[in-house]
Order: sequence, then C-alpha cells, then structure tokens
Amino acid sequence: MPKLAQRMSRAKPSAIMQIAQKARQLKAEGRDIISFSIGVPNFLPGPHVYQAVREWLDRDSGSYGSNRGGKPLLDAFLHSMKGLGLDGYGIENCAVAVGAKHILYNLAEALLDEGDEIAFPTPYWTSYLDIAEILGARVRLLPCPPEQNYKLTPAQLDQALASKPRIFLFNNPSNPTGMVYTRDEIAALADVLVKHPDTWVINDDIYNRMIFDGVGYHNFVHFRPELRERMIFVDSLSKTYGMPGWRVGLMAGPKAVADAVVVLNSNHITNIPEVAEVAAAAALSGPQDVPEEKCAEFARRRDIVVDILNGIPGVECPRPQGAFYAFPDISCAFGKRHGDRLIENDVDVCTALMEAKGVACVPGSAFGEPRGLRISYSCKPEELEPGMNRIRDFFSELT
Ligand SMILES: Cc1ncc(COP(=O)(O)O)c(C=O)c1O
Repeated sequence: MPKLAQRMSRAKPSAIMQIAQKARQLKAEGRDIISFSIGVPNFLPGPHVYQAVREWLDRDSGSYGSNRGGKPLLDAFLHSMKGLGLDGYGIENCAVAVGAKHILYNLAEALLDEGDEIAFPTPYWTSYLDIAEILGARVRLLPCPPEQNYKLTPAQLDQALASKPRIFLFNNPSNPTGMVYTRDEIAALADVLVKHPDTWVINDDIYNRMIFDGVGYHNFVHFRPELRERMIFVDSLSKTYGMPGWRVGLMAGPKAVADAVVVLNSNHITNIPEVAEVAAAAALSGPQDVPEEKCAEFARRRDIVVDILNGIPGVECPRPQGAFYAFPDISCAFGKRHGDRLIENDVDVCTALMEAKGVACVPGSAFGEPRGLRISYSCKPEELEPGMNRIRDFFSELT
C-alpha cells in the first residue's frame, strides 16, 4: 500500500471522543454508565430556532452558499458581539466555519508556517495541541497548575512572548477548568500583550455567555483597543445554544485574517449548510432565555459538584466560574489501591472509575495536567448527584 502523508504520524484521534465512545459502548452493552466525559449541553435550542428552520425549508434554493457566511448570520453575529462590548466590526471582519474547531484549524493554517511557535496555557483544550501538531508547529506550553487556580499570570505571559511566538491562544472561560479571568486579570494580561506586537492573539471564548457569580465577560481589547489589529475572537453556537451537532463556529478579527479563512473555506467546505446558518442566525438574534436559564442552572450545578469534590479528603477543586466543567486535583489517589487495582496515575483513576463505578470522566493528561480529572456536568439533571456520589464513594474506598 502507498504511504500516508508524514503529518498523519503526528495526528491523533481526539482523546475526549475516545472516552465518550467507550462510555457509549458500555451503555449499549447494558452497563449503568453516567457520563461526565464529553462537553455536550443537555438541552435543545429554543422553539424559534426550529420555527425559522421550518419556514426556511419552504424557500430552500438548494444552491451553494457564501464562503464567508450569509449576511443574516453575520449580522446576527455582529449584533451578538456588540452585546459583549465588541463593536466596530463589519461583515468583512467575519467568517463562519464548521464549528469553532474548524475555525481554529483554519486560523492555525492561515497564521502558522511549519516550525512556527504557538503558545497557550496548560491545562488546554485537547484540540489545540492536536491541531498544532498536525500542522508541524512548535508548541510552547505555559503551565498553570491548580496552585495558581489554573490561571496565567502576567509575568508568565511576558516571559513566554519574549520568544515571539506567532500565536498566543487564550481560552476564557476555560475548557477543561471552568476558570474565568476577572476584569483586572484580563486588563493586566492586555498590558503585557501590547508590549509584544509580533504575536497574534486568538481568543477562543466560546463559553462567553456561561459565566457565573457576576464576573462578566472581559476581552483584552476592552482595555487595550490597539490589540484589535491582531486579536481574533472565536465563538460557537455549540454550547451556548445547545447546538453542537449543527456545527456553526464564527470568528471576527482583522479583515486579512477573515479573508484568509474565507479562502480556506472556499477550498475545503465551500459553505456551511444553509439550514445550519438559518438556525444559527435565529439563535443569535432571537430570545436569549434558553442560554440565560442554562447559565443559571450550570451555576447551581457547579455548587453541587464543587462541594462534593472539596468534601473528599485530599481532593482539591479550584472553584470554576463558567462553562460546565470542574477540574479537581486528584493526585491524592496516586499510589493507592481500589480493590486489587493499583492506581498510579490519572488514566488509572478514570479506568477504575468507569469499571468499578460506571462513571466516565476524562483524565487530566488529555489536557496537559496529569494531576487533574475533567468532570463535564452538563449531564441529565437526575444523573448529577448520583454520579458525583459514586465519585465520592470511589475515593473513600481507596486504601
Ligand atoms: C474551548 C473550546 N473551543 C472550541 C471548541 C469547539 O467547539 P465547536 O463545537 O464549535 O467546534 C470546544 C468544544 O468543546 C471548546 O471547548
């Protein structure tokens, strides 16, 4: 057989998808499995989204759409960005793609040459590393351990940017930790960014409407507007609107970057399906009660999850203030036994939890922090407390 391209030796399937797949398989075999693995919202978009789609089906032209994204969707996106204090952008600054993951892939392809450096904090969302590796970029990880609440400090950023990475990739609220940077923290990081003009700044802020405790969404350009000429804002319909399978992601930034994404789209996908565009435009511009209610519900769930975790002797969970993830430090389990199984690391914890207790979580090493464990609490409401109690029981049974 002829060979695959060399870059495929660096390409890995998504670790999260593999665990979710294993949980689904065990469930299909009749096991009682509670999955805290994949970050899928457990709700559907509002009825106005389905209504817009039904009406559109009667008018469907069936033809190709715009490589950039249709005007109704981009207008709705610009309107939604204004709500986040990001105004002054036009359609020429925007582009759509098949989810934020595809936007990020496009951006990496558009901005990185092979061997260029991309810097991002650890714990990171798994695909950042996977995408960079496929494209042959050099990755510079900026460790943000639980002792610093998984947050990057201005001094760390300053030091990292001294080597002039091509991209600094920032994620707020964070997947996997759920941490949210405060107004002052963002302002301090923005002051550092202005000192390093050679680096693009990508803000993967797809959980921007899922922020608790009144912390609010803050962006570097709120404090240092001069960063607009190299800041790229990434958004998605997946989590906020309960639409992961519709696959709509968006970006806004300098026109040259948006144009580059449009060129890549024209060669990869042509356009996202128009039915998904119509649904996304309706979600962004219609009533916002679903995301608002869900945000309040996730804040309540966060309390349950964090209280149970921090009640387990030895486990420590910095308190997340956004998204629907908790990322406890579970290293107290290492070197102990569950039954006759020796627990050496985070993967062993996850395997034992799945097999002994039927709970699926993602090992922290998938996110570059092997002391952690990601719990996605966007499960069915009735599964939350039983699942968390199983985790508590698991830790109490360690010897
Ligand atoms: C931080 C972050 N960025 C991007 C994505 C990709 O989202 P989408 O479903 O729009 O591709 C995810 C999905 O889990 C995410 O958590």
